[in-house]
Amino acid sequence: MRTADPPRYEDLVRSLGALLIGERDLVADTANMAALLFHSLPEVSWAGFYFRRGHELVLGPFQGPPACIRLPWGEGVCGRSALSGSSLRVADVHAFPGHIACDPMARSEIVVPVFHDRRVVGVLDLDSYASDRFQSADEQGLETMVRLLEQAVDWSPLLSPNPGSG
Ligand code: SME
Repeated sequence: MRTADPPRYEDLVRSLGALLIGERDLVADTANMAALLFHSLPEVSWAGFYFRRGHELVLGPFQGPPACIRLPWGEGVCGRSALSGSSLRVADVHAFPGHIACDPMARSEIVVPVFHDRRVVGVLDLDSYASDRFQSADEQGLETMVRLLEQAVDWSPLLSPNPGSG
């Protein structure tokens, strides 16, 4: 018996659009996007968000095992992607200097920054137990989905002074 083909990103974009319609809540929308990705994409061990809180990235909605809660801005794969404002694909996280290992079995990772008013407000992070899991098609597809999310969500809860600190 043939296994099902992995979903095409254009189908995931359509599904995400349907989930986001009429809902601007930050937690609701990012939680549903994490669930959609985790349950649709093969060989993904973790899918979720970190949000900018001062000089840290703080864990947001996700699917997968419990993860590190606070990541220093500019460090690890997530922090480096957030600092640069560019997506980052890492084929072997053990070869990435400064990688922050939340799950020791994770082998590859992709991080896509999330923007509001041209500032990075967080990142989308996906991990896999397979090495070199994420290709340029994943990067393009996930970036398209993040652009959709950016338009849909009311980001104001992240913009107040020192949200979530202390
Ligand atoms: N590995 C990430 C930390 C987040 S977890 O993968 C969920 C990093 O190096 O930033």
